Amino acid sequence: MSHKLLKGKKGIIFGALDSKSIAWKVAEEAVANGAKIILTNAPIALRMGSINELATKCNSKVIAADATSVSDLENLFLTAMQDFDGKIDFVLHSIGMSVNVRKKRDYTNLNYDFLIKGLDVSAISFHKMLQVAFQLDAINDFGSVLALTYIAAQRTFPDYNDMAENKSYLESIARSFGYHYGKHNHVRINTISQSPTMTTAGSGVAGFDGFFEYADKISPLGNASAEDCAKYCITLFSDYTKLVTMQNLFHDGGFSNTGVSKELIDILGKKK
Ligand code: NAI
Repeated sequence: MSHKLLKGKKGIIFGALDSKSIAWKVAEEAVANGAKIILTNAPIALRMGSINELATKCNSKVIAADATSVSDLENLFLTAMQDFDGKIDFVLHSIGMSVNVRKKRDYTNLNYDFLIKGLDVSAISFHKMLQVAFQLDAINDFGSVLALTYIAAQRTFPDYNDMAENKSYLESIARSFGYHYGKHNHVRINTISQSPTMTTAGSGVAGFDGFFEYADKISPLGNASAEDCAKYCITLFSDYTKLVTMQNLFHDGGFSNTGVSKELIDILGKKK
């Protein structure tokens, strides 16, 4: 299902680690829709993941960049503009990591060095890439920048741990930078709040299988898959959504507006 919505557009995609990654699906869908892309990830992820396979499939270059390093980001945007022979039309930030989650630290026993590292990787990196792009004037008028987030920014999911604060910060950057970038260059900035998805980052959260099932049973349309998320991203990169900016957009099969489902009540009721 390709409508060539991104014909002639050029983009940078952060965060494709392996074929389960949401960014991987976005890359495939963007190219199927006529875009040219550059893939990027942290140097260690380039060594450990399978991004080269994706690069071959998408006929795209891979540029290493640690998203917390301003000099790496400057090199990335400058090289991309050279390669594309012009400015960029869309950027995907699909990056998340909490050291506290990785090391299984409880929320009431956080290590603050770990917290700062996770905040830098998961949220401040978004500000850094926007600031670098802004200062280099790297994005075309009505270009579109997206970051992926999770509803734990608004409601408590205990095992999501300090990633909840990271996502709140990320969503706030989309609003604040969205104002400034909108005023100056008509660049739009949004976050997509995605259903739980079986990926490396997702399944790193304790009890992930449980809340994947729970969300699936609550959501009237069921959990949104990575492939569906990719399709939604394409619409937001396209010219059909030119005036959408500074929003947190739920892509979750209706989870965020549902209190409880009959299916779940039936399951819990039977336990008595
Ligand atoms: P993933 O593990 O495939 O992707 C995370 C990516 O972040 C990896 O490619 C990793 O190399 C990259 N990364 C980590 N540190 C980095 C750094 N310093 N510089 C550059 N890249 C770095 O997992 P997934 O699920 O595709 O995650 C993508 C985004 O989607 C994340 O923001 C995640 O929080 C978000 N999300 C995921 C959900 C899920 O259930 N999987 C649900 C809602 C949002």
